[in-house]
This record gives sequence, C-alpha cells and structure tokens, in this order.
Amino acid sequence: MVRIVILGSGRGSNAEAILNAQEAGQLGLAQVVGLFCDQPDALMLKLGPRFDVPAFYLHPGKFKTKLEGEAETHWIETIQRLQPDFIVLAGFMRVIKPPFIEAFKGRIINLHPSLLPKYPGLHSIQRAMEAGDAETGCTVHWVTPEIDAGEVLGQERVPIAKGDTLDEVEARVHAAEHRLLPATIRRLADELMLRH
Ligand code: GAR
Repeated sequence: MVRIVILGSGRGSNAEAILNAQEAGQLGLAQVVGLFCDQPDALMLKLGPRFDVPAFYLHPGKFKTKLEGEAETHWIETIQRLQPDFIVLAGFMRVIKPPFIEAFKGRIINLHPSLLPKYPGLHSIQRAMEAGDAETGCTVHWVTPEIDAGEVLGQERVPIAKGDTLDEVEARVHAAEHRLLPATIRRLADELMLRH
C-alpha cells in the first residue's frame, strides 16, 4: 500500500476526486490514510465520514497565510504518525516552510491552477484571463521552498474562449484538476512500488 495524506483548506473537490478514484479502483496501490484541514468549517472535512477516512481539523497557529512555529511542529508530528509515502496539497491555501518540507523530503506534491511557470501564487485563473491568454490549465509539481516552483509532474491544458466568464473557466480548470491529480498520484504510487 502507498500511503497518501491530503491537506486542504476549503471545498475539497480535489480530495473528493482522489477518493472517488480510489473507490473506483483507479488509484493503484495508493490509499488515502488521512485528510487534514486548517479551517474548522471546511466542506472537505465532511469527506471523512463519507469515505470512511480519518479527517482532522488542525489549528494552523497565529499566521494567516503560512504554517510556521509551534503549529507547524504539531502538524508535522501529527502527520508523521500516519507514515505517509506522499503528502498531497489539494487546495491547501497556506505556504509551507522548510522544516515541514524537510520532514517529508521528496514526498510533497502540490496542485496549482495554472500552467506553471506561468502565474504562480494567488488568483492564477483570473490573471490568465486578464492577460488575454487563449489557454490556461493546471499543474501538479513537487513542493520545494520556492513557491509553486518545484519540478512539474504533470499538466493539463484548458482553453479560454473570448467571452468566457471566470466561473466558466474555473469550472473547466477544476474538471481538469479532477483528472490530473488522481492520475498523477497513481503514477507516483506505481513508480514507488516498482522501486521496492
Ligand atoms: C484548486 O483549484 C487548486 O488548484 C487551488 O485551490 C483549488 C482547491 O479546490 N489551489 C491553489 O490555488 C493553491 N495555491 P478544492 O478545495 O475544491 O479541491
């Protein structure tokens, strides 16, 4: 079994796509062993009972946009108990710092709603539209200390047509994410099993 821990902050539609893929037998030997959320009311937490996976809110500490200090140590220690092979940042809206990255070195992947290296950071879909781009997309990449800059594991392109609304393009990007992220996890799990 390849142990997957998912971190998120909100709706959890990507966590749901991963769990649906698992239920459908499309995740290979990967199995989600825990969901962690930094928002107590996030919809994502409802996935726990629905899919019979442990789902926890963990207090994110005093910072609004990053995980650092005592809270970071608590997150690291709690997640380590689940012995994850991979940690998936699926809509986790907080910057993770070198101590966390070191604790799970080479095991953290992130989903980002743009064709990186274009539009790292926030509001990526809106920025692609405002720039008049004819396409955007989503990227799964390894997490390194530099934000949204680690090696790319996979991308899916999404067209932007003239007259599209932000909602329409967002829906298209989400649909692409829901394919790309489970497929990438499966590939990583397959590759890990081949190495053992
Ligand atoms: C996704 O679109 C993901 O790409 C984005 O948050 C959304 C989470 O949706 N992530 C980032 O912007 C990270 N900087 P979800 O909670 O429904 O999975």
